[in-house]
Amino acid sequence: MRIKSIAARQILDSRGQPTLEARVTLTCGAEGVASAPSGASTGAHEAHELRDGGSAYGGRSVERAVAGVNGEICAALTGLDVRDQRGIDAALIALDGTPNKSRLGGNALIAVSLACAVAASKAVGMPLWRYIGGVSGGRCPCPMMNVLNGGAHAANNVDIQEFMLVPVGAASFADAVRMCAETYQALKSVLRERGLSIALGDEGGFAPDLRSDEEALELLMLAIGRAGCIPGKGMAIALDVAASEWADAGEYHLPKRGERRSRKEMIEYFSRLTQNYPIVSLEDPLGEEDFAGFAEITRQLGDSVMIVGDDLFTTNPARLRKGIDACAANAILLKPNQIGTLSETIDAVRIARGAGYRLIMSHRSGETESSIIADLACAVNADFLKAGAPARSERTAKYNRVLAIELDW
Ligand code: PGA
Ligand code: ZN
Repeated sequence: MRIKSIAARQILDSRGQPTLEARVTLTCGAEGVASAPSGASTGAHEAHELRDGGSAYGGRSVERAVAGVNGEICAALTGLDVRDQRGIDAALIALDGTPNKSRLGGNALIAVSLACAVAASKAVGMPLWRYIGGVSGGRCPCPMMNVLNGGAHAANNVDIQEFMLVPVGAASFADAVRMCAETYQALKSVLRERGLSIALGDEGGFAPDLRSDEEALELLMLAIGRAGCIPGKGMAIALDVAASEWADAGEYHLPKRGERRSRKEMIEYFSRLTQNYPIVSLEDPLGEEDFAGFAEITRQLGDSVMIVGDDLFTTNPARLRKGIDACAANAILLKPNQIGTLSETIDAVRIARGAGYRLIMSHRSGETESSIIADLACAVNADFLKAGAPARSERTAKYNRVLAIELDW
C-alpha cells in the first residue's frame, strides 16, 4: 500500500473554469482520484489557489499547480505508506513551505491529500466514509439546500448570497431530499406564477430580481407551504449572508442595493429576520475579521440560531481556536480546500466538536462531479451537509452519494 506515482491534470469545474484533478496510484494497483473545487466569495485567510495568469482561460489555468504535482509532489510522496494520512499531509505542508500553501497551491495539495485517502480506502476495501470515520463515523447529515441564490453567485439584485432549506423534520436523509426537492419545484412554480425569473445561479438555486430579502423569505414560505411542509417544524430556513463581501471601512456596504449599515444595524436586522421567519442558521452574518461582532450576535441569538463561521474560520484550526476563545459563532462551515489538507480539516472537526460547535460540511460554488465531501460529512458525523440546490449534477452528486451511504448501497 505504498504510493507508486501521483499525477495531475487540468479539468473544468461547474462554472467552466479550469481546476486540478489528482490521481494517486499504489503499488498494490489501487487508485484514488480527487479534484479541487473553487469559491467565488472566498475568505481572505483561505489556502492560496494557484493559477497561472497569462492569456489561457483568462489567466485562470492551473498548469503550474499540475506541474508541481507531477514533479515535486510525486517525487516527495512516492514510497510512502498511503495509510499514513497525517505523514502524507505533513510532508505536503513541509514541501510547500509557506503559511498559506501559496508555493505549490492549496488546490494541488487538497486534491492530492484527498486522492491519497480515496486510494487508501480502495486498497483496504472500505467505503471512504468508513475508512476516514472508522467505527464511530457513519451518521448521515441533514442537508442544507440553497434554493435562492444572490450575492457573488448570481447576476440578480439580491445581496444575501444563499437562502437555504433545512428539512429539520425529516425522518431520514431520503425523506430530507424529497422534502427539499418538492419545495424546490414548488418554489419554481411560485416564481413562474409571479412572472419572476427561474434562471439559476451558480449553486443551482433560482436567481430572480426581488424587492427585498423579506420578499425572498416570503417566497420560500409560500413554497414550503405548497410542498406540504410546516414552516419551522418540518422545514426551516438558513441564510448565508457572506457579509465579508460587504465589509467596507468598518461598516457594511450592500453592493447591489447600495445601502450602508453599521455592525449594530446588521445585528438588529438579522435579529428581526430571525424573529419573523423560521431561520435556524445564519452563516457569516458579519465580516471575516469581526470576531467581536460575531461574539455579540452569538450572545444575542446563539441560543436559538446557529451562528456559522465560514470566511471567519476558513476551516483553519488556529482561526477556529481564536473564535472559540472569543465565543464567536457556535458552528463551523468545513470546506477542505479552504485549509488544503484532509488532516487539518479533521483537526478543525475535533476542535469544533470539543467546543460544542455544530459542524456543516460544505461544497464550493465552483464544484466538480466529485462526491467526496458527502463521504467526509458522514465520516465525521457532520450535523449538516451544504451542497447547493437539489438540481444540477455537481450538486446532486453529493446528495445522491449520501442516499447511497444511508442505504449501505
Ligand atoms: P464560495 O461560496 O464557494 O463561493 O466561497 C460558498 C459559501 O460562501 O459558503
Ligand atoms: Zn459561506
